Amino acid sequence: MPRPVLIDTDPGVDDVLAIAMLLASPEVEVIGLTTVHGNMSVDVCTRNALYFLEVASRTDIPVARGAGDPIAMPFRGGAAFVHGPDGLGDRMVDGVSTTPVGEDAADFIIRSVRARPGEVVLAPIGPLTNLAVALERDPGIAELTAEVVVMGGNAYCDGNASPAAEANILNDPEAAEIVFGADWPVVMLGLDVTDEVSLTGAHLDRIAAGTTPMHALLREASAFYQRFHEEAIPGYDGLCPHDATALAWLIDPSLFEVIERPIRVGMEGLGRGKTWPAEPYRMPEYEPWRGRPEVTIATQVDASAMADLITTRLVAFGS
Ligand code: BDR
Ligand code: CA
Repeated sequence: MPRPVLIDTDPGVDDVLAIAMLLASPEVEVIGLTTVHGNMSVDVCTRNALYFLEVASRTDIPVARGAGDPIAMPFRGGAAFVHGPDGLGDRMVDGVSTTPVGEDAADFIIRSVRARPGEVVLAPIGPLTNLAVALERDPGIAELTAEVVVMGGNAYCDGNASPAAEANILNDPEAAEIVFGADWPVVMLGLDVTDEVSLTGAHLDRIAAGTTPMHALLREASAFYQRFHEEAIPGYDGLCPHDATALAWLIDPSLFEVIERPIRVGMEGLGRGKTWPAEPYRMPEYEPWRGRPEVTIATQVDASAMADLITTRLVAFGS
């Protein structure tokens, strides 16, 4: 039986690569998209999610609009320089013919989890605001959620949105602290693994050769994101599929090595948004980590097999 997955997203070029990959994967059933501020405002991210599903001919999948601001600060302004002026490159999406459902993302999450106790996987690939709000509204969902698969954080490597922090966590550290502190099974797939994977020009050419409208969208949206990577990092070939690498956990977890550690999130100053694992041999000294649940942290990935997996699934989209 495919696992039911609810994707919480801020599309975002790598978000649409990730969602398309799961739509092409028999291991999972995507039961909804919830949207959140992050790469763009929540209005633009919601429009992009609806647009994406239209292009994918999957308007049967509901979209619930989520938080426009992080829990404790205003929206930080997004990353148009990474994902393009409309978040899907410079395609300049104008209208969509579908609308989000009437309830907000947090209520949608709560209702979906309670409808299938112990089955639903939450897969956040944007800031963790909606999940934190859902937990605050209904703490009981923690024990009813099958797994929380997070793209975010950096355990043993640099950040990408500051020297200390990864973008999804820095965009709402207070929410991340709540999500990593709740008593539910969380897997953190952050920059430790996602930064290791690239879809090279050769991979992207294979995807671009696809003939569906979705392949055209991926081709055009990826071009901007690829240009960003190649200009920012001398010698880089292609782009980094952060969100798809993380969600590939739901297809083939054997591609990762993991460890278990409790995590605290930096709240202050230079370290704001850093995800801090506690090393077991030091635990007795580190009171702030005591009593926190263990998070499964991905530390290594088979980068070449991962790029092949993502590419193969995206090439097969619609067939
Ligand atoms: C994460 O930040 C966003 O820009 C991407 O979509 C991804 O979810 C990578 O740090
Ligand atoms: Ca994202």
